[in-house]
Amino acid sequence: MSVEINPKYHLAYFNMANLYFSQLQYEVALENYNKCLEIVPKDEESLLNRAITFAALKNYQDSLSDFNAVLALNPNNPHVFFNRAQVYQKLGIIHKKFHIGMFYFAELDYKRVLEYMPQDQMTMMRLGDTFGFDINNPGRSMFKRLQFAKKLARTKYTLPDLSYDYNALEPYISAEIMQLHHQKHHQTYVTNLNNAMDKLSTAFTKENLESQISLQQAIKFNGGGHINHTIFWTNLAGKRNGGGELANSILIFLILIDDLKAAIEKQFGSVDQFKTAFNNHAVSVQGSGWAWLGFKTDSKTLQIATTANQDPLQSTTGLVPLLGCDVWEHAYYLQYKNVRPEYLKSFWEVVNWKNVTQRYHDAVQKV
Ligand SMILES: [Fe+2]
Repeated sequence: MSVEINPKYHLAYFNMANLYFSQLQYEVALENYNKCLEIVPKDEESLLNRAITFAALKNYQDSLSDFNAVLALNPNNPHVFFNRAQVYQKLGIIHKKFHIGMFYFAELDYKRVLEYMPQDQMTMMRLGDTFGFDINNPGRSMFKRLQFAKKLARTKYTLPDLSYDYNALEPYISAEIMQLHHQKHHQTYVTNLNNAMDKLSTAFTKENLESQISLQQAIKFNGGGHINHTIFWTNLAGKRNGGGELANSILIFLILIDDLKAAIEKQFGSVDQFKTAFNNHAVSVQGSGWAWLGFKTDSKTLQIATTANQDPLQSTTGLVPLLGCDVWEHAYYLQYKNVRPEYLKSFWEVVNWKNVTQRYHDAVQKV
């Protein structure tokens, strides 16, 4: 109906396209994405969804073109590189003359994904598919794949890049805090984690059980610090990128995302009531730690929790982390001194709800 009232309303076409896609009506979905993009030619989400629609229609050439357009708008999204790599592989299989080149491009894209997510097993395996791929001898490819996956499994942990500038969260979180927090604090956890893992590897080689046990605390603390901060950075977004905005169901990568807003309202009464409850937990953390919104897999419900120090949520409570708030003083002291509630007030202004919603959807789908 909204299309008849206002034909220029591109979101109506976008939502209709998503709906048709979810019903597997790809041709009609494509028509609606086309209309949407006629109105807003550089709409990243429409281009992305159309790219995947083209892929679903086995039109890999146009799919590739749209993925390229998305990456021209936003070159920091590992999921787009992952999708484009798959399209390159499809093109390599269809056009045998070009398979070496296509698989090489796919390899580059998968490696790019691993820069953002160094331990992602799926990407490692897909990369192995491209590495030494022999179209006439898939068995050889499998052998190479396993070799390569083993090699990559020993990759060192690295500091992930932020997808935004240090000043992107101002005035709510200052550039100075973000830079120190990322470059100094998080980097220290990564460095110490790698050192501990090296020592653990030596301890395993020497079958030194005492040494293996003594390293557990360092691995928990620094590994937890790495896990927690890696989640935290993606949980944040500047105002210009939708920070603080929680919308109803959205579509990412052609999948209707489970509606986190509705789940919060159902469980906590309203989003504001949820924020108040979350803040109460965050304020109650004695000393250093984290406040979380987690997903309880057995009851499929949301739960607010806190963890001490750098204890990672899932390892210590079983909850799947959706949203983390770092309440260590290093996260806010330079700007808010010891007034944690003021920091929490600002925190909600820069929550990347899209990311939190995507995490919720992924957690629900895995149950
Ligand atoms: Fe921190």
